[in-house]
Amino acid sequence: MKMLRTLLWTSLAAASVTAHAMNGVDGAVKGMGSTNVNWQPLPEMPPIPADNPVTEPKVLLGKTLWFDKRLSKDGSLSCNSCHNVMAGGDDNRPNSIGLGDKHTDRSSPTIWNVGYQSVQFWDGRAKTLEEQAKEPFISPAQMAMSSWDALLERLNKMPTYVEMFKASFPNEENPVTPDNIAKALATYQRVLNTPNSAYDRYVKGDMMALTEQQVRGMKTFAEAGCTTCHNGANFSGQQKEGGFFMKFPLFSGSDYDKKYKLLDDYGRYDITKNEQDKHVWRVPTLRNIALTAPYLHNGTAITLFEAIKVMAKTQSNIELTNDQITDIAMFLDSLTGEFPVQTMPRMPAALGMTFTSKKK
Ligand code: HEC
Ligand code: HEC
Repeated sequence: MKMLRTLLWTSLAAASVTAHAMNGVDGAVKGMGSTNVNWQPLPEMPPIPADNPVTEPKVLLGKTLWFDKRLSKDGSLSCNSCHNVMAGGDDNRPNSIGLGDKHTDRSSPTIWNVGYQSVQFWDGRAKTLEEQAKEPFISPAQMAMSSWDALLERLNKMPTYVEMFKASFPNEENPVTPDNIAKALATYQRVLNTPNSAYDRYVKGDMMALTEQQVRGMKTFAEAGCTTCHNGANFSGQQKEGGFFMKFPLFSGSDYDKKYKLLDDYGRYDITKNEQDKHVWRVPTLRNIALTAPYLHNGTAITLFEAIKVMAKTQSNIELTNDQITDIAMFLDSLTGEFPVQTMPRMPAALGMTFTSKKK
């Protein structure tokens, strides 16, 4: 069986996958059979910034903040409401529902393995997890606190929180600060990693870890040019400073532009105002992708099959057969990893605190 897989792999390297269709693509797809992909397993830990080391008290503080709904305006939403760590790390909605039934413009990305991303958000507007963590609390479409002061006031009313901040940042006199809230949340997220997927075991040498169909899908994934962008251990491209971005749709003009509303959101352009950043997006991870439907920044692709079809057309300018798409989907399914068990933290007692939608 092992032999068979190896043979299959070699013969597939020479196989032609709609070769004629791919030839027309400049740069986006390398020549058939020359897909020299450096398949990498997920490293044990993502990069850890020198000024925010991972420590046990900080992970616990970050986790407690992560699950605490009392840190939203009316006490009804936590980070976990939109990034469920008991599931795929997202909310399976096209847009997330924030306070007062406000909807976010974009779909919630998974936070599993988020530490391996070089930049955060679909448009990469936050350079680090620390920077990202400052947005949700005061964003009106998310947790909608009126100000950082209002949030700090709440935390300071819960003595156990103050103790936890002191344990996490022992050298600081007044550690309950926005920076430290962000540092604790970033630290918790950096341990939310899912190694040891079937794919990881396969590239580490366990040839039985993938089915024949998945091996075929892996090959087709490379030959269809997907690895031009989705490469590296996290399938999110080169993790260089400043982020890894690509235009989407790269090949516009197909029916998909309208069907999936691909031209409604300017993406990175809204941040930089550079003309060439129109419809430019950060390349997202494909790990655990089977769990995080619907797909794309606007959640318009309901199934993974659809998302793959759209990608092949708009990013590689090719039509894949249904069988090829199914093979790729089965390969992507092998990127579902092992999830570290999550236990619910005990919440610090809130003394004399009530929540109504009218309060700050
Ligand atoms: C109301 C739903 C909602 C809540 C609550 C929420 N998020 Fe998000 N989160 C989103 C959405 C939607 C995005 C994508 C926004 C975008 O890219 O423009 C996002 C993006 C992110 C990202 C970037 C992930 C990536 O791959 O780019 C991280 C990290 C994150 N959130 C962490 C948090 C943390 C920490 C909290 C709590 C302090 C939180 N979120 C609360 C909906 C939510
Ligand atoms: C030219 C770069 C590029 C190529 C080639 C490419 N992608 Fe993508 N991919 C992206 C970008 C950028 C996004 C984010 C799209 C968005 O913002 O909605 C994305 C998103 C996705 C998503 C949805 C992720 C999510 O969380 O919703 C899937 C699935 C996907 N790609 C699979 C593929 C497959 C399979 C191929 C090959 C057929 C491929 N991609 C080829 C750049 C690329």
